[in-house]
Amino acid sequence: MPSVTAKTIKAGVIGWPVEHSLSPRLHGYWLDIYGIDGVYLPLPVAPPNIEDAIRALPKLGFVGANVTVPHKEAAFRTVDGMSDAARAIGAVNTIVCDEDGELYGDNTDAFGFIENIRAGAPDWAADKAPAVVLGAGGAARAVIAALIDAGTPEIRLANRTRERAAELEAHFGDVVTVVNWDNRNGAMDGAGTLVNTTSLGMTGNLPLDVDLAGLAPHAVVNDIVYAPLETPLLLDAKARGLTAVDGLGMLLHQARPGFEAWFGMRPEVDDALRAHVLAGRDRG
Ligand code: ATR
Repeated sequence: MPSVTAKTIKAGVIGWPVEHSLSPRLHGYWLDIYGIDGVYLPLPVAPPNIEDAIRALPKLGFVGANVTVPHKEAAFRTVDGMSDAARAIGAVNTIVCDEDGELYGDNTDAFGFIENIRAGAPDWAADKAPAVVLGAGGAARAVIAALIDAGTPEIRLANRTRERAAELEAHFGDVVTVVNWDNRNGAMDGAGTLVNTTSLGMTGNLPLDVDLAGLAPHAVVNDIVYAPLETPLLLDAKARGLTAVDGLGMLLHQARPGFEAWFGMRPEVDDALRAHVLAGRDRG
């Protein structure tokens, strides 16, 4: 790594815990291949300190930071201005400090979701059929915002805890229809998109128990989970001749707008980057 000087551009990722975040590896790769004099640091910040830490970014000369679990909502409340995407999702995952020390918040998770689907399923037509979303956490918010933006006519939302799904229905309006978790298989009927935003299927967790038989023949199935990369859900989708899109690309693509804002260059997502980030994931 080239030596860090006072001129080195500084950014990072704020989380708690943050040691499993793949973002330093991802941004570090881009900084390296594009030959940029910058650093991207893991910034562990305990919940009581989050507002102070965010406010300190410009004072310490940082150009900004990503924000990850559990701080995206606190970042939303702390920034001075924000993008429409951040407002729609109700969370901030990317902060850019301007020259006056003001903090601008963005949410690039919806962008990352859409770019990943478009890369993995170029023929995907969001506006032609209903979508099914499983799960109602932070990731589901970004996915629903993206699907609405892409023109999805109806989003059937199933979550184990129904009230969380109902909150998202209240937030996003009538385009979202809450479905009981036990009726998730029926919700597949004629759907053109299925997105798993639950943690089911992740290494060490229970598999996602779902029947894909009702999905439209051209349906695209996306799993937010990327450890393993090929979840049982995606293997099932492939076996049925559906288009399966894994979750790693969402992580990679959501990082691009922040990198461009901080370091002045729009970075590319390619197979070499995927392999580099996956090697970091496998090392834990
Ligand atoms: P994130 O913000 O990353 O989306 P989260 O808020 O922890 O993460 O949400 C995890 C999702 O996985 C939730 O929708 C959760 O359902 P609940 O809202 O009922 O907790 C879902 N989930 C986790 N374990 C589950 C299980 N065993 N069965 C069904 N859903 C599960």
